[in-house]
Amino acid sequence: MSESERPIAIVGAGSIGIAFSLVFARAGVPVRLHDPDGDMRDLAPASVLGRARALAAFDLLDEAPERLAARVTVFDDLAEALTNACLVQECAPERAELKREIFIELDRFAPVDAVLASASSAIPASVFASELPGRERCLIAHPGNPPYLLPVIEIAPAPFTADWAIQAASERFNAAGLKPVLVRKEVEGFVFNRLQGAMLREAYCLVRDGVATVEDIDTVVRDGLGLRWSVIGPFETADLNTRGGIAAHAERLGPAYARMGAERGQQDPWTEELVAEVERQRREKLPLADWEARVAWRDRELMKRIALRKFDKGADR
Ligand SMILES: NC(=O)c1ccc[n+]([C@@H]2O[C@H](COP(=O)([O-])OP(=O)(O)OC[C@H]3O[C@@H](n4cnc5c(N)ncnc54)[C@H](O)[C@@H]3O)[C@@H](O)[C@H]2O)c1
Repeated sequence: MSESERPIAIVGAGSIGIAFSLVFARAGVPVRLHDPDGDMRDLAPASVLGRARALAAFDLLDEAPERLAARVTVFDDLAEALTNACLVQECAPERAELKREIFIELDRFAPVDAVLASASSAIPASVFASELPGRERCLIAHPGNPPYLLPVIEIAPAPFTADWAIQAASERFNAAGLKPVLVRKEVEGFVFNRLQGAMLREAYCLVRDGVATVEDIDTVVRDGLGLRWSVIGPFETADLNTRGGIAAHAERLGPAYARMGAERGQQDPWTEELVAEVERQRREKLPLADWEARVAWRDRELMKRIALRKFDKGADR
């Protein structure tokens, strides 16, 4: 069996486990799925097929849904599910002690060259894998939900994770259509949930303080910030919002944002060095000479999305 034909094992057939099964099966990879709960195992094939049919209804599948679903095999036995796997993706509930127990089993039964990845949303790998003989092959591979619709994955190694494991996991996800983003230091919540958490913390404060209702906040994000973020990220947003780019933005708005942070007890000023580093990375991506053209591109991309929303209003497939 060549390396690219080796299966992926998925451990846990809940929301994320089923969604990862679609990611890999869609890419033509055999998937071996295990869950200790018999009901979840019984539900899995129909869940995979149902989601594959939904993708096909939106013209997002290059083959019959049944062909995709046929690549997913469900196993009662964990060790059997791990046979020949080159990557094991653990998708069990978010409890450190449970993940510790599962990883002992994975390290014992998975092929010695298999990468052991956890979908953990916030718990870093060193919390549950540091005692394992095979800890160098353990890391976090954290998706957005559901990963077959959000094509990004955070690869968060522990200090003890080997480079080969990071490389192998990144290549596997990349081949399955997920863009790997390396989390360069082990922090709780990685990048995705730190960013998400920053917004959610402020949203709770605004509701608590009577500044806005829950619906008001969802409206501001859905029809404002989020619509724009479906085209570009927060750094590019700031860069394109101010003539002169992100350095001009930081100069003009940095003090106001610092006051808002201080009001919440956060003292993390954007120092000159930090702004210079952000500016350097942005200018590498977009020279200021191309700024106007990029602003026009952003607006065209927004128009495409608005047109789609208009077209889709009331439609439900
Ligand atoms: N739901 C999300 O938005 C999201 C996003 C990214 C990452 N995650 C993470 O993915 C993981 C799974 O989350 P989920 O939302 O799919 O949870 P879920 O509750 O939908 O599914 C968990 C599954 O794990 C199974 N399970 C229980 N004990 C197990 C064991 N010992 N071995 C294997 N499987 C076991 C359960 O039977 C269940 O089917 C969590 O770590 C979660 O934090 C979730």
